[in-house]
Amino acid sequence: MCGIVGAIASRNVVPILLEGLKRLEYRGYDSAGLVIGNGQSLERVRSTGRVADLVEKSAQTQGQIGIAHTRWATHGVPSERNAHPHMSRDQIAIVHNGIIENYEELRASLTAAGYEFSSDTDTEVIAHLVHSHYARGNTLLAATQATLTELVGAYAIGVIAADNPDQLICARRGSPLLLGIGENEHFIASDMSALLPVTRRVIYLEEGDVAELSRKGCRIFDETGTETQRPVQLSELSNESVELGQYRHYMQKEIHEQPQALANTLESVCNSQSLIPGIFGADAHSIFAQVESILILACGTSNHAGQVARYWIEEIAGIPCNVEIASEYRYRTSVANPKTLVVTISQSGETADTLAALNHAKNIGHEFSLAICNVPESAIIRQSKLRLLTRAGPEIGVASTKAFTTQLAALFLLTLVLAKQRGKLAPELESQYLHELRHLPVAVQKVLALEPLIADMARHFADKHHALFLGRGLHFPIAMEGALKLKEISYIHAEAYPAGELKHGPLALVDKDMPVISVAPNDALLEKLKSNLQEVRARGGELYVFADANTHIREGDGVHIMHMPEHAGYLSPILHTIPLQLLAYYVALQKGTDVDKPRNLAKSVTVE
Ligand code: F6R
Repeated sequence: MCGIVGAIASRNVVPILLEGLKRLEYRGYDSAGLVIGNGQSLERVRSTGRVADLVEKSAQTQGQIGIAHTRWATHGVPSERNAHPHMSRDQIAIVHNGIIENYEELRASLTAAGYEFSSDTDTEVIAHLVHSHYARGNTLLAATQATLTELVGAYAIGVIAADNPDQLICARRGSPLLLGIGENEHFIASDMSALLPVTRRVIYLEEGDVAELSRKGCRIFDETGTETQRPVQLSELSNESVELGQYRHYMQKEIHEQPQALANTLESVCNSQSLIPGIFGADAHSIFAQVESILILACGTSNHAGQVARYWIEEIAGIPCNVEIASEYRYRTSVANPKTLVVTISQSGETADTLAALNHAKNIGHEFSLAICNVPESAIIRQSKLRLLTRAGPEIGVASTKAFTTQLAALFLLTLVLAKQRGKLAPELESQYLHELRHLPVAVQKVLALEPLIADMARHFADKHHALFLGRGLHFPIAMEGALKLKEISYIHAEAYPAGELKHGPLALVDKDMPVISVAPNDALLEKLKSNLQEVRARGGELYVFADANTHIREGDGVHIMHMPEHAGYLSPILHTIPLQLLAYYVALQKGTDVDKPRNLAKSVTVE
């Protein structure tokens, strides 16, 4: 989604801004731009291509203050005129993430006041509003503060003025923004990775904060306008974690990082002999003791993790569990039970739909919230009573991989802790599961060794336009995840079905051009699944089966088998995810798509 970088320094900030934008490319964007101040005027450069085009176009641009942006279109098509920064009368420049909901009425009143609009965006109203207050003699800070009182919606903004080369103003509400602290230079960014080349010292702005940055320092004002202090933290993000290294794509790198990401996520429990609720926060024990049911809210891949967890939670902990797509839940009239634990799952912790669903749940009377998230400083973490961080490290590829498997590991921990607190986890079972969790990184590593075979299998998909994914029980959500991965990065239309549902309709689609991919763990539903696979073969469907050892599914005409290791019990969905990620990756390579930045998609979906 959109990205912001800004800088005020005693050196030329253009290279800093451009490097920052490059580091934000992974979030997805369709245009980019920057504005640089030179003391008298503002110079704007924008491009509808990649940041690399912007680099070329701004080769001659220099200045010691500037703001820059990558835009993912919401209001108005991707075009240069809609690209940020937006300006008002060449005096004020602004970059904005988020959505201004009342922009139409603001636009009408600003037009009546004589302002001319040169874009179709909601953002441009902010530039003109700041200008209108600034022109009345307010300071840039006061003009921005006055503007914010008129906005309804979500924003992270950066603002500069042509005649004020010594101040950069920024603010956030509903969209993330942080300040980078350097030596006599200061920065803003929507994501820490943008600032790693210049500083690790960071201040995370709170909801409603406004900040005034100069070269010498920064002042922060809370939502009441009172000057306040926010802690300076040292970011733990390392340069290697956001660099590609030996890999061809971030997605491939992140698939291979899964053993380490799982080991990091499980670190707190793997070194101990027993599980304690405290890993979810100080109040976890007392909250879990009151919980009667679970409601999981998430989007996309994170929702699939929740769907796997439903099987675990009901079967192992014996607690009723519902999983809802966050964007649907937020608009549904539902009945709240204050004894329900609301679990949000999110890689980014900034997904607008998931955040809104969490707030909706609280508003209708849910008191207990728990976040499973990969970003410690994110809004979802801050707004939840309990939390468990997945420690997958930054995920740059738009298609979620290591975030998903670490979410599953975290949800399995949640299941075990809940089961234990309810007296449903005998000590020997607890030790067994802990042992299996400790073994997980090694088990994943073994599955990763299938990569060359899967690359080979992917060649069969080069000319395909559709695919069906089948799974049963605990592995049906894994089939859904496999289908989502394939469609989002290879653009092959893919659908997932619980295998038993095939004969109720989708079997009509099966012919030689419809590859059918099946997850075949050696579990209680194996024999049922085998019958379903026969139904496909009998209709001439080509089968690609990811089969555990001892499933006795034989390779043959139209049946391709990928041999997985031993059945991993409850943790099997984690292992079965890996080959589907690799399959999607290698099919996308066959198709020649932009693997890390698939068309139309963004990494953090911070708008509705
Ligand atoms: C798919 C994918 C998305 C995200 C979804 C939620 O590969 O990455 O479906 O899972 O947009 O994002 P988070 O987890 O950040 O809330």
